[in-house]
Amino acid sequence: MRHLIDITDLSVEEIDELIATAEDIIANPTKYQDVAAHKQLATLFFEPSTRTRLSFESAMLGLGGSVLGFSSAASSSTSKGETVTDTVRTVSCYADIIAMRHPKEGAPFAASQRSQVPIINAGDGGHNHPTQTLTDLLTIHRERGSLSNFTIGFCGDLKFGRTVHSLVNALSRYTGIHFIFISPEELKMPNYINESLQKKGLPYEETESLEDAMPKLDILYMTRVQKERFFNEADYIRLKDTYVLDPDKLQNAKKDLCILHPLPRVNEIAVAVDDDPRARYFEQVRNGKFIRMALIMKLLGLKA
Ligand code: NCD
Repeated sequence: MRHLIDITDLSVEEIDELIATAEDIIANPTKYQDVAAHKQLATLFFEPSTRTRLSFESAMLGLGGSVLGFSSAASSSTSKGETVTDTVRTVSCYADIIAMRHPKEGAPFAASQRSQVPIINAGDGGHNHPTQTLTDLLTIHRERGSLSNFTIGFCGDLKFGRTVHSLVNALSRYTGIHFIFISPEELKMPNYINESLQKKGLPYEETESLEDAMPKLDILYMTRVQKERFFNEADYIRLKDTYVLDPDKLQNAKKDLCILHPLPRVNEIAVAVDDDPRARYFEQVRNGKFIRMALIMKLLGLKA
C-alpha cells in the first residue's frame, strides 16, 4: 500500500504522470466524474485549513466519491486524549483513503505505520506539505511548460514554512534550477535543506533583500510568516511585515515573472498585485483540486 508522507515518496516519473493526469482532468472533467464511485475519503484536520481540506473534498466529490471527517481536533476524540494512531486505526475502518493535517512533525508518518488504508500528509507542523508541492509543480508546469531551467525566489518565513521545504526538496530533482532564499536572519531556511542542496551540488543564494533578488527571478514564491509556530508573540509582531509585495516592488521584475503563494495571505502581498497578470496564486488554488484528483486516483489504483 502506498502513502504520501514526503514528496520524495513519489519518483520524478510518477510526478510527471500525476501532472499529465491532472492536465487531462482539466481538459475532460466528465471522463473522470464516476472514477471513485463508492469510495470514501476521510479528511482528518487537527489544524485549521481552507484550501487543502476543501480541495481534497472537492476532488473526491469530483471523482464521484464521498467524504467524511472533521476539521478541528476539538471536535474529535483527540480532545478526550485519544492518540493519533488510535484515531487513524479507527477511521481506516470507515474510509478507503485518509488525508490528514497535524501540528506535530511526523504525525502522518506515525499514522501510516498503523493504517489499513493510504495516508496522505496534508501538512505536518513546520515540516512538509507534499500535496501543496504537487499543486505548485502543476502550476509551474502550466505556466512555464516545463519544470526545468528557471530561477525561483522563496520569500518570507523559510524556517517554519512547510510548503517551502517540500517544494525545494521536489525541485532539487529537476535540472537547471537556481534557488534564491529571501528571508530575515531569524527565518532562514533550515540547515538540513541547505545541506541537502550542497550535497547535490545545487546552487542557491541567501539574501535579506527582495529588491535585489527581484530582477533575477522567473518565479517568486511568497509565504506567510507562520504565527502559530512562534514561541513568543513579540517576535512574530516584529517579523510579520518584513516583506510586503506591492506594485512598486514589481517595477524591476521580469515581464513574465510568475508570482505564487500557497495562501492564506495575510499582509505579504498587497491586494493591488492581484490585478497584475503575473499574479498566479488563484490559478494555483484551482490547480490544487485537479492534482489531488490525480493523486487520489493513483493511491487507490483507479483508472478513467
Ligand atoms: C499553507 C500551509 O498550511 O502550510 N497553506 C496551504 O495549505 N495552502 C501555507 C500557510 O498556512 O501559510
